[in-house]
Amino acid sequence: MTDPARIADLWHEIKSIVVPDLRGLFEEDADRLGKQVIEESGLRFDFSKTHLTDGYLAAFEELAQAVDFNGKRAAMFAGETINVTEGRAVEHTAERGEGRAESVAAAHEHKLRMRTLVEVIEAGALGEIKHVLHVGIGGSALGPDLLVDALARDAGRYDVAIVSNVDGVALEAAMARFDPHATLLIVASKTFTTTETMLNAASAIEWMQEAGVDDPYGQVIALTAAPDKAIEWGIDETRILGFSESVGGRYSLWSSIGLPAALALGWDGFEALLEGAAAMDRHFRNAPLRENVPLRAAFVDQLYSRCLACQTRAVFAYDERLRLLPSYLQQLEMESNGKSVKADGTPVYGHTAAITWGGVGTDAQHAVFQLLHQGTHIVPVEFIAVTEAGDALDPAHHQTLLVNCFAQGAALMQGRENAADPARAYPGNRPSTTILIDALTPHALGALIAFYEHRTFANGILLQINSFDQFGVELGKEIARSIERDGANGFDPSTMALIELALG
Ligand code: F6P
Repeated sequence: MTDPARIADLWHEIKSIVVPDLRGLFEEDADRLGKQVIEESGLRFDFSKTHLTDGYLAAFEELAQAVDFNGKRAAMFAGETINVTEGRAVEHTAERGEGRAESVAAAHEHKLRMRTLVEVIEAGALGEIKHVLHVGIGGSALGPDLLVDALARDAGRYDVAIVSNVDGVALEAAMARFDPHATLLIVASKTFTTTETMLNAASAIEWMQEAGVDDPYGQVIALTAAPDKAIEWGIDETRILGFSESVGGRYSLWSSIGLPAALALGWDGFEALLEGAAAMDRHFRNAPLRENVPLRAAFVDQLYSRCLACQTRAVFAYDERLRLLPSYLQQLEMESNGKSVKADGTPVYGHTAAITWGGVGTDAQHAVFQLLHQGTHIVPVEFIAVTEAGDALDPAHHQTLLVNCFAQGAALMQGRENAADPARAYPGNRPSTTILIDALTPHALGALIAFYEHRTFANGILLQINSFDQFGVELGKEIARSIERDGANGFDPSTMALIELALG
C-alpha cells in the first residue's frame, strides 16, 4: 500500500532542495563522474552535467520506494493488469523473451511464424518481392520507420517505404517508385480499424489491381492484434501475423509490427535487436535503484519537469541514422505520460510528461541552439552520439560531428560571462545528458529503445499515472467521424465555417 501523505511530503522535500550550480558540482565531488555515469549494454549514460546530486538521488530513491517502484516493476514483468483503465497487462517485454512464461511462449510462437514468413518471402514464395510498402500510423509506423532508417539503409535487401499520413502525397510517392508486381503490401494496425491505415491500404490494393496484379491480396500481409477484423477486411488467415492485445501500439515494434525491419535487416539482425532490448529488460528488472539507468533517467526527467517546471525536453541525435528518434520518442513519451490524472482517477498537480522535441546534430545547432544557450527557457537536453562512424567517408566527418556534440554540452554547462556586452553573454548552468553508443548495431539500438520504454514507465510510476492508455486521442477521432457522417451540423461557428468552406 502506498501512503499519499508520505508521497506528497517526499515531493515537497525534493522540491525544497536548494538547486546547485552545475559548475561547482565536479569540484565539490571528486567522484561525480563515477557516480553519475552508468554503463549498460554497450551504452554509456552520462548524467553528470545534470543537477542531480547525492541529495537529490537519495530523496528520489525514497520517493521510488514510497510509490512502490519495485512492486510496480515486478507487476509489469509478472503480466499483472497494470493498465488498469483498459483492464490489460503490459507485455511488450515478452516479445523479447522477458516476462510471464505463458506470454513469452506465445510471443515466441508468433516470432517463429514471422521468421518463416521472412524466409519464404526471401525464397520467392510470394513472387519476386523487391519493394515493401508498409502502411500503418503511430506505433504501427514510427518504430518500424526508425529501425529501417537507422539500421537498414545500406542493407540492400528490399526497398522499404513506411507510409502513415492519410494525405495521399506520401502514398503516391511510394507508388511512383515501386513496381506493383514486385511489392509486398504490409497493413499494420493493432486494432485494424484506424481510418488512415485502412484508407491507405485500400488505395494501395487499388493501385495493384489497376496495374493488373492477378491476386493483390496474395501480396498482402496484415500485422494486427485483431485478426478477425483483418479477415473481415479480406485478408486470408494465412497472411495474418498476430500479436497480443497486451502489447501497446507504441511498444509494438518488437512484435510482428517489426516485420518491415525484419525483412530489411534479415532475421539475424532483428533477433539481435530483440536481444539488445532483453539485455536492457534484465538490467531494468534486476538492477538496484541506485544503479538502475532507466530509473535514474526518470529522476532527471522529474527533477526538471515537475520540480523545476521545465516544460520541454530536447533530444538531439548526433548521427543521421537516428534522425527519426525524436519523433519516435514523442509518441512514446507524450502518449504514455501526457496525462492529468493518476491511475486512480485523482488529479495530478504539476507537470506530467515534458513536451519532447528535438532534431539532429549538427543541423539543429544552426537552427534552435540559440534558444538553448541564451533563451529564457531552461531546456534539459539529451545528446545521443555513436563512437563508431556510420559512414565510410574521411574520418574527419565523424570526428567533427562528435567534437560538436561534446562542445555543446560543455558550452551549455559552462556558459561565459560578459558584463560589458550582455548580448554576447552565456548564462551557463544549463543541463544535459549524453548517451554514448559504442556502435549503432541492432543490439545497441534494441537496448537504447528498451531504455526509453522503461524510463517512460519509471516516470509513470513516480507520477502514479497509467502510462499505457491513450484516451486523449479519442475525442478528436470521434468528432472526425461525426463530421464525415453528418457534415457541419451542430458545431461552433468557426468549425462550421471551415467545414463548409473547404468541404462544401
Ligand atoms: O490514435 C493513437 C493510436 O491509437 C496509437 O496509440 C496507435 O499507435 C495508433 O493510433 C495506431 O493504432 P493502430 O495500430 O490500431 O492502427
